[in-house]
Amino acid sequence: MRARITILPGDGIGVDVTREAVACLETIAEKFGHEFDFKTQLIGGVALDRLGVPLPDETLEVCLSSDAVLLGAVGAPQYDNNPPKLKPETGLLGLRAGLGVFANLRPAFLHEPLVDASPLKAEIIRGTDLLIVRELAGGAYFGRPREVTDEYGLNTMAYTAPEVERVARVAFEIARGRRKKVTSIDKANVLESSQLWRKVVTRVAADYPEIMLEHGYVDSCAMALVMRPTSYDVIVTENLFGDILSDEAAVLTGSLGMLPSASIGGKVDLYEPVHGSAPDIAGKGIANPLGAIASAALLLRYTCKLEREAKVLEDAIGKVLNEGYGTPDLKSQPKQITTSEMGEIVRRYV
Ligand code: NAD
Ligand code: IPM
Ligand code: MN
Repeated sequence: MRARITILPGDGIGVDVTREAVACLETIAEKFGHEFDFKTQLIGGVALDRLGVPLPDETLEVCLSSDAVLLGAVGAPQYDNNPPKLKPETGLLGLRAGLGVFANLRPAFLHEPLVDASPLKAEIIRGTDLLIVRELAGGAYFGRPREVTDEYGLNTMAYTAPEVERVARVAFEIARGRRKKVTSIDKANVLESSQLWRKVVTRVAADYPEIMLEHGYVDSCAMALVMRPTSYDVIVTENLFGDILSDEAAVLTGSLGMLPSASIGGKVDLYEPVHGSAPDIAGKGIANPLGAIASAALLLRYTCKLEREAKVLEDAIGKVLNEGYGTPDLKSQPKQITTSEMGEIVRRYV
């Protein structure tokens, strides 16, 4: 098959991990006889430096005319005090909005060799295999009005029923192919937007009688996630809660560097690791590229419908970990290697 894929390395370790993910896609293309046309574009801090905006028009246009987008990460400390319009993160939010993606799938799967890479007890995390479906187009991230002065900051968290319904349907559909359980996470004891959320999710659940639905509050979920992670299958939640819970879920898998994501439901799908640009390790060549590589596998599965190829790439990740290889964030792995070595070994197993 042929696919046009836009590559957005972005900032910091985004560059290092994306390079390895693209190389893995090239290996898959070669081995299975596919043709991927890659186009690299600017986003985030590098776009600010070169063009003065975090999301250049050309970047969005190229993304919209491609079949999928693979992004590394955006952000760096030198932009942290920029006005909102000139922040790298605003570029990423603009990209998500421009593509129209509204469901962000963040699977957290613990590879058995990494049980000791996590600070959590092995008996608690063993068997972790959950999927966070994070609403990506609404909530506090996109609420209007928004404002900041020296004395005042304003954001609003608002949801409409259709916004909740469409992401809930994604969660229930995916749960059908998994362990048939959906946990909807909200703060309905306090927030009106969550009261709507709970009502709509309950209504959607009626169309999926074979799926078990439970509701939970986000504060209690933050605790339960690290106490009984194996009790979760699919978690569906609003934008900000999903952002926070997914970084927490990363700890269950050994490292934030392990988590991939797929953002779907819009005009063009977007794939990115869950982690950020990691300024503390940027430029050192030691970032874990497996979240980015696993994101490329999701691209093969969801956009290209290449299930076998996706599985080959995911299995290669599993084998590399079984062999004891790991970047420094995976301290328990006996064979410590760099970002590019990790990419190379994954490709060898492919
Ligand atoms: P971060 O995810 O960049 O890093 C958090 C910690 O995890 C750091 O100690 C980092 O070294 C480690 N880490 C992250 N990814 C890793 C990997 N692949 N391998 C090994 N270690 C890894 O979060 P932060 O430090 O809070 O944010 C840094 C910048 O990234 C900020 O500007 C933030 O806005 C941005 N950010 C961007 C995205 C994105 O582009 N999707 C996501 C999160 C944060
Ligand atoms: C993520 C990041 C982004 C988010 C930021 C960088 C805009 O934290 O992808 O998880 O909050 O969605
Ligand atoms: Mn985040």
